[in-house]
Amino acid sequence: MMNLSEFSNSQKLQQILLAEIERSPHQKITFAQYMATVLYDQQYGYYNSGTVSIGSQGDFFTSSSLGKDFGELLAIQFREMWHKLGCPNPFYVVEMGAGNGELAQDVLNFFSNSSDNDDLIRAIKYVIIEQSTALIKEQQELLKSFGNFDLTWKTWTDLADESIEGCFFSNELVDAFPVHLVTKSNNQLQEVYLKIQDHKLTEVIDQISTEKIAQYFDLIKIDLLQPEYPDGYRSEVNLNALDWVSAIALKLKRGYVLTIDYGYTAQKYYRPSRSRGTLQCYYQHRYHDNPYVNLGYQDLTGHVDFTALERQGELSGLQTIGFTQQGLFLMALGLGDRLNELSSGKYNISEIFKRRDALHQLINPTGLGGFGVLIQGKNLNQKQQTLQGFTVPD
Ligand SMILES: C[S@@+](CC[C@H](N)C(=O)[O-])C[C@H]1O[C@@H](n2cnc3c(N)ncnc32)[C@H](O)[C@@H]1O
Repeated sequence: MMNLSEFSNSQKLQQILLAEIERSPHQKITFAQYMATVLYDQQYGYYNSGTVSIGSQGDFFTSSSLGKDFGELLAIQFREMWHKLGCPNPFYVVEMGAGNGELAQDVLNFFSNSSDNDDLIRAIKYVIIEQSTALIKEQQELLKSFGNFDLTWKTWTDLADESIEGCFFSNELVDAFPVHLVTKSNNQLQEVYLKIQDHKLTEVIDQISTEKIAQYFDLIKIDLLQPEYPDGYRSEVNLNALDWVSAIALKLKRGYVLTIDYGYTAQKYYRPSRSRGTLQCYYQHRYHDNPYVNLGYQDLTGHVDFTALERQGELSGLQTIGFTQQGLFLMALGLGDRLNELSSGKYNISEIFKRRDALHQLINPTGLGGFGVLIQGKNLNQKQQTLQGFTVPD
């Protein structure tokens, strides 16, 4: 049941959408515009109104909600990257889309907790790029004890081109970008729009809103007009993801881009049998597929097409270093040792159960462990492209 304030936030968003639709050339907006408004409207959008709730009691949880292991294992990978680059000072770690700040907290704590990391701590410039002012506040509150780090919040325009030596990284960011909804209709590639009909927000199908959508399918070498795709086939196109990769490539001078998210290669993503796409809505820890309810109170996501990130990266000067699953990546970074250590006698029984469950969730191939991990690089030699996260653990 929605409470009254929820209702009023949803009503505000409806009014904003109505005005957007009325203002637009053919009184219709793309699904991407719709998603941008309901998630990112500065005042009432899900991520900006202060409603977003990440964690075990929230609308959804992420790997960092399960405890410190995820962040610590990523920190091990960042430390290796720093060594591979020849221990530069400054070494940038740029986290994009930092949620409630827990992941940054776990990474920074890991570095703080060992005196071996003193040189690295002095070299690190930890930068957060976050679009939500409400979440920036939460992050700043959580991270205020890390005065020993050079920790700052920046926007893309604050970063000069080719200025970053280090690693750009994100966990579950790209799935949150607004997506276009496309469909195969009358043997044409068409797009889903929203219109007002009979006072109701209604889906209508029309020509694609931009040629970039057709170019996207050329980029990933998928043709929805092939006969194996049924009429009415529907899926998403994340054009924002392409712009995002290009922006990173431009800012990176030398180093890595680590992207973790749920998703597939293009071949799997656009499998003919996946005829309803991958759009999902999260509301109070349950998921469903109706993006037109709980406006401003639910998260909307689309899976990530990792092939598109790779191809766009290659066009922008990034080479693909590796693509694997989160479970394998974390095992290679030492998650197995952490599981073994649980029987060392250091922990009490309830700690063992809790932590073992968390570690298993991180590697479960049907859950978080099945997430994709993509690492791209720029201006790296062969040695610098060999990373621990892609090795096979003993
Ligand atoms: C699903 S949450 C993931 C949070 C966090 N990375 C984690 O693992 O818990 C998505 C995050 O990305 C942020 N975000 C969405 N679009 C963004 C953009 N264009 N630039 C920066 N942050 C963005 C959201 O505000 C939110 O903090």
